[in-house]
Amino acid sequence: MKTSTMTSTRVLTFSLIVSLLTFCHGDLQQEDEFLYDTFPEGFRWGFATAAYQIEGAWNIDGKGESIWDRFTHRLVSPIIDGSNGDIACDSYHKYPRDVELLKSMGVQFYRFSISWSRVLPRGTNDLVNEVGISYYNNLINLLISNNIIPMVTMYHWDLPQNLQSQFGGWPNETLIEHFENYARLLYERFGDRVKHWMTFNVRILGEATEPYKCAHTILKSHAKAYRLYEREFKEWQNGEVGIVIDSEFMQPDNPDDPTHVEAAERALRFKHGWFAFPVFFGDYPSVMRELVDARSEAEGRNASRLPTLDEEWQTMLRGSFDFLGVNHYTTELVRPAAAQGLPGWSGDQQVSKRKDPSWEGSASAWLKKVPWGFRKYLNWLKNTYDNPVMYITENGWSDDGRDPTNDTSRSLFYRDYINNVLKAVKLDGVNIKGYTAWSLMDNFEWANGFTDRFGVHWVDFTDPERQVIPKDSSVVLKKIFEDNGFVEE
Ligand code: NOJ
Repeated sequence: MKTSTMTSTRVLTFSLIVSLLTFCHGDLQQEDEFLYDTFPEGFRWGFATAAYQIEGAWNIDGKGESIWDRFTHRLVSPIIDGSNGDIACDSYHKYPRDVELLKSMGVQFYRFSISWSRVLPRGTNDLVNEVGISYYNNLINLLISNNIIPMVTMYHWDLPQNLQSQFGGWPNETLIEHFENYARLLYERFGDRVKHWMTFNVRILGEATEPYKCAHTILKSHAKAYRLYEREFKEWQNGEVGIVIDSEFMQPDNPDDPTHVEAAERALRFKHGWFAFPVFFGDYPSVMRELVDARSEAEGRNASRLPTLDEEWQTMLRGSFDFLGVNHYTTELVRPAAAQGLPGWSGDQQVSKRKDPSWEGSASAWLKKVPWGFRKYLNWLKNTYDNPVMYITENGWSDDGRDPTNDTSRSLFYRDYINNVLKAVKLDGVNIKGYTAWSLMDNFEWANGFTDRFGVHWVDFTDPERQVIPKDSSVVLKKIFEDNGFVEE
């Protein structure tokens, strides 16, 4: 009796908040009416995770150390709560639980990443860890036997430490060959069952010349892995290979000011175009070339901080995608600014960014809710890259984990963001084939440890068993998946 009263009060509060927020949105101008409609038949729903954030078992069964193991084990912890991914959700031991959760959510696919150092402990192909290979075989087989399609990210930030120590990591182009070998191993061992590959989950932060060099090596590695599949595997494996790029939408701070419009476009090209232009068109955006070259010269350098792609690489890169993976969370307001700060990516763009203080905030300082920005962003992708096949590979909201179940703001986030994806698909003709939410369960949120929780399932990180509890949003999201959109009640 008590539970049912509690439940109905909760449902009532929930619907009140829903209507209140729907009403408030009217004031935003940018947000038009809620769309009751469904996604095209065959649209796929699922969740995304990444190895270091969920697996744990960092040094078990022959796994080699990764740069995130090394980083989180520093004497003075660089992680906000002093935590690390040593155990995380313990998915290495508890993957059947993950598959159960996926099943309970009624998904069609699951995006997860492979830990490079679990299968190649040194990062190089002279030593293959068969126990690590078995782990992924077991996961993949269990997914398939439950009718869940695996979608695999090859690199989600956990570089084998040996490649860092021996070669200095991504600034060194030696890594291209090692990544290609790693990709070959994955196609060979898993490609009979995995038909959707993502080479990189891309988001680089940092300054000076290093990020440009890292991006350069990553782009070349991506191209090599894509061409390898095309040449040696595609014909008999029949899969697809893409890349995932993470970006905010950039909205002109004052849309009536052409210099703001131009600045926002510039910021999008520096963020998304930096990786996507080479993959789609063969070279970096010309605005990056011009601005970085000019600034490098003014700094008295004899070469631009932005490296050059020669013709051979341009040809290899151009068109090296079967789909584009889209990670999206939030929007920035952009206006022009003088180049400032240290020589580097953020100053090179000559923009300044801010968030509207009225935007609702999550547990993560950077993540504000701007649902209309998602639709605009998807339209920008469509127009800029000639409407490629896209998957939304990440989208989600964080809470502080104090209340294990009540996460109304996440439910409303998903409802409003996915409604904008629906508008993009149905009203604007954007070519989106599926959506994986970030994330299935709370996990290790990089430098923010376990303080920012993105799961639709709450995880008890103090419990050796890592008990999980469904949050309210899991019910809302499950219904959206089930209805393949929004059905007016
Ligand atoms: C993007 C990253 O790919 C993922 O690893 C991270 O947890 C989410 N954003 C949330 O910050």
